[in-house]
Amino acid sequence: MQQLDEVRDKWLGAAERAASLEDLERVRVEALGKKGEITQFMKTLGGLSPEERRDAGQRLNALKEAVTAALEARKGDLAAAALDARLAEEHLDVTLPPHPEAEGRIHPVSQTIDEIVAIFGEMGFSVAEGPDIEDDYHNFTALNIPPAHPARQMHDTFYLSQQVDGAPLVLRTHTSPVQVRHMQKHQPPIRIIAPGRTYRFDSDMTHSPMFHQVEGLVVDETTHMGHLKGCLIDFCRAYFGIAELPVRFRPSFFPFTEPSAEVDIGCSRAGGELRIGAGNDWLEILGCGMVHPKVLEMGGIDPARYQGFAFGMGIERIAMLKYGIPDLRTFYDADLRWLRHYGFLPLDIPNMVGGIAR
Ligand code: DAH
Repeated sequence: MQQLDEVRDKWLGAAERAASLEDLERVRVEALGKKGEITQFMKTLGGLSPEERRDAGQRLNALKEAVTAALEARKGDLAAAALDARLAEEHLDVTLPPHPEAEGRIHPVSQTIDEIVAIFGEMGFSVAEGPDIEDDYHNFTALNIPPAHPARQMHDTFYLSQQVDGAPLVLRTHTSPVQVRHMQKHQPPIRIIAPGRTYRFDSDMTHSPMFHQVEGLVVDETTHMGHLKGCLIDFCRAYFGIAELPVRFRPSFFPFTEPSAEVDIGCSRAGGELRIGAGNDWLEILGCGMVHPKVLEMGGIDPARYQGFAFGMGIERIAMLKYGIPDLRTFYDADLRWLRHYGFLPLDIPNMVGGIAR
């Protein structure tokens, strides 16, 4: 049985040398498979005498077990090496900066706020904030909208059950109360914008119970209506990225400004398609005016010495106009397909150098 020792050395060596799991499987089939060499030896046992068969049978079984054990051992080594190689290849460096083509998108409301902040920031405005839950005084009275004033009914106010000074708290119906809060804490010169959430009891294609506005307030000793016009014309042209955009000031009424105006931008509605900047139609985009002396006074500022202007606009509205988003309600659906389509890349940060309009 000299021959069996050679067979054993041959297959133990082959198992040891197998370079991959596929290689090893091939060795197993050639040695122990149906037509494998060792299997063939097993088949010759039948032709032996009973004594010879017992002896040869034991030796063949030992051979088979030795080769099987060698194959198993090699398999374990190869699998461990394969795992090590894969781990080395797939390592993740968590200290690397985020990938520029990140999956996430910036919501158009956030992007539009960033654009507005970039434009007014360049003009020297800073950002102010106020609470979403307001008291009656800041939301109405201090803005020259006393109790029972008809303007209160136009605001579709959400009232809360808690009361302060005998009046229910409200979800602020506009960002204008931030004007009052800011004046109460700061003396002129004042130059702020206040973007934020606002709430009204109203819901359809163009109204949502929660939406966003941005407020602006400038107060000092010399600011006049010419400054208001220049500032807002510049804003509209920068925001829409149209240098010659027609901008019109139309007399209007707000309790907190005197005189008051609404601002329209030039557009065309030819063929049922809205195009901004061309044609001879007009589209209203914001309200503004010279701050009413009573509002200055309620903000703790002397109206005999100081004057200024204020403005307010709807953020979703100007985002819809610029980016061609047809339905306001889709802003809050949290639909990923919508966000992939209308959203912005995280590194697409608005600034005046790069140009605000894309
Ligand atoms: N608060 C007004 C609104 O919600 C918008 C507005 C108009 C704000 C004129 C102002 C302003 O500061 O001067 O409709």
